[in-house]
Amino acid sequence: MTHPLKLGLIGTGGISRRHAISMKDLHDRGRDGFGVTAVCDVNEAAAQERADQFAELFGSRPTVYTDYKVLLAQEELDAVDICLPHGLHHGVTIDCLEAGRHVLCEKPLGITIKACRLMAEAAERTGLVLSTGVPHRCQPGQRAAHWVFNESGLMGEVRSFFHSYTRPPAAPANTSAPVPERVRWRRNRLMSGGGPVLDSGFHYCDSMRYFFGGLDTVYARALNAGGSFEEAPEDTVFVTLTFKSGVTGSWTWSLAAPGAPARNVTFYGTQGSLRDTTQTPFAIFHLFERRLGEREDGELQTSDGKSYSMAELEQMHLDSLSADARERLFPGGADDGFSIEIWDFLEAVRGNRSGPEVDAWGGLYSLATGDAIYESITTGDVIKVDDIISGARSQYQDPIDEHWGIQ
Ligand SMILES: NC(=O)c1ccc[n+]([C@@H]2O[C@H](COP(=O)([O-])OP(=O)(O)OC[C@H]3O[C@@H](n4cnc5c(N)ncnc54)[C@H](O)[C@@H]3O)[C@@H](O)[C@H]2O)c1
Repeated sequence: MTHPLKLGLIGTGGISRRHAISMKDLHDRGRDGFGVTAVCDVNEAAAQERADQFAELFGSRPTVYTDYKVLLAQEELDAVDICLPHGLHHGVTIDCLEAGRHVLCEKPLGITIKACRLMAEAAERTGLVLSTGVPHRCQPGQRAAHWVFNESGLMGEVRSFFHSYTRPPAAPANTSAPVPERVRWRRNRLMSGGGPVLDSGFHYCDSMRYFFGGLDTVYARALNAGGSFEEAPEDTVFVTLTFKSGVTGSWTWSLAAPGAPARNVTFYGTQGSLRDTTQTPFAIFHLFERRLGEREDGELQTSDGKSYSMAELEQMHLDSLSADARERLFPGGADDGFSIEIWDFLEAVRGNRSGPEVDAWGGLYSLATGDAIYESITTGDVIKVDDIISGARSQYQDPIDEHWGIQ
């Protein structure tokens, strides 16, 4: 495909604004040949606002729609970027694929494993690209951490990790004010698929799979301690994770722990440790997070007394790459995860790579960790993640599938 790619954006709420900024970042780096020509949201004001943003950034205003089926019927588009609430991902994605459009879908790919499977099968049936949006594994810090664990040999063989985070509950909301829609749908399990474990936690589940490969088992307990997520299934979670590679880790956090906040995010190998010291409360979900204009922070310490900063590790990782690999992982020198994931998708659509970094099956496997956590919370059992992937265990997900009529 050599012509400039025409994209549609469906769902123009919070995160779509960030997608627009990253598309501009790509253009500024000479990674262009694409543009958003149509936007769609049931909230027309939100769609108009996003169209204004594109006009300001790129000098041309996309056409505004309030019904994605009309957009699909009227617009000549190569691909669609979907930024909708989780329960809508599968239906809209499958409609877009059936209408001949490649799809980049925000995380989590589908609301349940069965929903993801339907999406993956639709991509295979139509022969089109379906990419799962996972910007955090694309960030330089996580790319460097992946290199440290799997290629550098700097800390020996990774054996374990200890991740914990606690903070006091947010101040009580003004109960007379209406709950914003972006919060309301997240509190409804039938639309969100779950609470923080599946929302921001999806990034964590995907990153763990990126670092250490497939999971073996999960054991989890959750509390709703009455913090800021009063209608969500959990605000406090304790998880033990084991990987097929032999790595064992714990992920424990509370967004409702009174008193002093505390945080520890450390990976241990046979010859050293890597600690994430990035000053962001989201490190427990996003790991080595770099926001625009900020750097990830971290320190690797070896048993023989050497230490490396995150900046040094990122540079060592870059120096280890061929020119081709550098362009694939950091196109045009991009260091923003959203820019990198969007370019990866576009390159897959153009046929310049065999598929996106995280395709639909990858999205399904990453979701399986989150659903295994909920299955364990629901049943009290240790859960084999393969049983979630195969559908052998689905007590937690069954009511959600039933609600959406997913077989
Ligand atoms: N990658 C990240 O770091 C990240 C961060 C935040 C959100 N997300 C993901 O992005 C997606 C959207 O999240 P958000 O925070 O932007 O939510 P949001 O509530 O701010 O935006 C969702 C938009 O979808 C619109 N919408 C709802 N139903 C629609 C329909 N049938 N047709 C068209 N538009 C419709 C809503 O009006 C709203 O404007 C979710 O999957 C979320 O998990 C990813």
